[in-house]
Amino acid sequence: MAGRVCGIDKSEQFVAEAQRRATAAGLAVELRPGDAQALPYPDHGFDIVRAERVLVYLSDPAKALAEMRRVAKPGGRIAIIEPDFGTNAINVRDRALTRAVLDHECDANIPQGWLVRDLGAMLRDQGFTDTEVATRVVVFTPELAAG
Ligand SMILES: C[S@@+](CC[C@H](N)C(=O)[O-])C[C@H]1O[C@@H](n2cnc3c(N)ncnc32)[C@H](O)[C@@H]1O
Repeated sequence: MAGRVCGIDKSEQFVAEAQRRATAAGLAVELRPGDAQALPYPDHGFDIVRAERVLVYLSDPAKALAEMRRVAKPGGRIAIIEPDFGTNAINVRDRALTRAVLDHECDANIPQGWLVRDLGAMLRDQGFTDTEVATRVVVFTPELAAG
């Protein structure tokens, strides 16, 4: 199947590491540093636009959604995969400490810790149609976290 795959990340180091992994896997992808809130691509160039674990870190996630819409072809598909920091759980006995750490992470450390709760409405406000919000439980084992 023919196609072109492009990607951006704000971090030059992350882009370099992603490029290294893609090359090692034999994947032809075009990666470059960039801001999700000002994508370095022309209008309506992509059939599919995808963001994973990025919007929660942005000062203006609505702007990133508008950018994803701008670079997608009319009728194109957009996929957004984001964690809900308000429902994180960790397996630590000290309940007060656990709550304090998780609340700090959600409310102070992550700019948009509850983003996914607003995401459906944000997409509709921006004129997206045929939207679907689905929930998954992800378990990070120590082995996975270490990888
Ligand atoms: C949890 S990592 C996810 C990385 C990758 N999307 C993945 O799924 O493996 C969050 C990433 O968001 C990037 N990021 C933060 N703000 C950004 C922005 N304004 N534009 C683009 N990337 C940004 C960070 O550099 C970091 O690599």
